[in-house]
Amino acid sequence: MNQQVPTLQLNNGSLMPQLGFGVWQVPDADAEHAVGTALEAGYRSIDTAAVYGNEKGTGKAVAASGLPREELFVTTKLWNSRKQRWGRDEVLRAFDDSLGKLGLDHVDLYLIHWPRPMRDDFVSIWKTFEEIAASGRAKAVGVSNFRPEDLERLAAESALVPAVNQVELHPLFPQAELRAVHAARGIVTEAWSPLGQGKELLTLPAVTALADKYGRSAAQVVLRWHLQHGNIVIPKSVTPARIRENLDVFGFELEAADVAALDALGAGAAGRRIGPDPAEFDV
Ligand SMILES: NC(=O)c1ccc[n+]([C@@H]2O[C@H](COP(=O)([O-])OP(=O)(O)OC[C@H]3O[C@@H](n4cnc5c(N)ncnc54)[C@H](OP(=O)(O)O)[C@@H]3O)[C@@H](O)[C@H]2O)c1
Repeated sequence: MNQQVPTLQLNNGSLMPQLGFGVWQVPDADAEHAVGTALEAGYRSIDTAAVYGNEKGTGKAVAASGLPREELFVTTKLWNSRKQRWGRDEVLRAFDDSLGKLGLDHVDLYLIHWPRPMRDDFVSIWKTFEEIAASGRAKAVGVSNFRPEDLERLAAESALVPAVNQVELHPLFPQAELRAVHAARGIVTEAWSPLGQGKELLTLPAVTALADKYGRSAAQVVLRWHLQHGNIVIPKSVTPARIRENLDVFGFELEAADVAALDALGAGAAGRRIGPDPAEFDV
């Protein structure tokens, strides 16, 4: 593993880098270059998904990097869209398809992309994830966008605890309650859109004032907030200078009062999502 980036231990024993590279909205044709730039900069964890349509480009960059497989942590996700019924065979086929596109014989983490509670099928999908985990073709399995009640349902019907729950999380939507649920269940919290998609969040005076104070960028301050809360982060960028900037966050630390000032931005009723609500999102 890259020395610079700390790792967190997942409940299967694997070590996952606390900072990785996300590739949502990176076209397949650009993914090889973006992921290649990230690997060259020192990232060792890549977050893709079947629905991003860039598993092939991601896999090409991984192969071209020449890095030993055991130094890399690759995540992909099952796109459990409503276009089909997600029985065991369909899940296994989708997983094979992702591995084939990535050109890998295993991934480090395989996630159910959305719970879609109105479809009432995530428990049966999880049963197939148990098989995938047992086969070793995904070293760890987890979920994404699961709510406390979804995690509770899984716990009632399966002995396998998700290693990770990847959810929308940033200072404007800090997910304090969900993080406490994760801590109690031994699930690692992974933050998607950790930079708030590079929009309003990075322009807020509370954030830019801290950027000035620490002589760092707004994005670096926000990433430090996540790291100091113990979140895994997967910022996305196709801009080489930003790719490097987002990794250069291990040489400074926010004071506790500054972490608290960022906590206040989205505390309680002030919290707001950028992305869809998992209670309603059906794809
Ligand atoms: N599980 C899920 O349902 C789910 C949902 C959403 C995202 N994700 C994952 O989470 C990853 C990250 O989330 P995200 O892509 O939505 O948003 P994000 O990482 O919060 O923000 C990405 C945006 O911020 C810009 N940016 C990056 N670094 C910056 C910097 N240092 N300064 C200023 N702007 C910067 C990027 O622009 P440029 O690219 O133009 O540089 C891009 O527009 C995704 O790529 C994906 O892997 C998962």
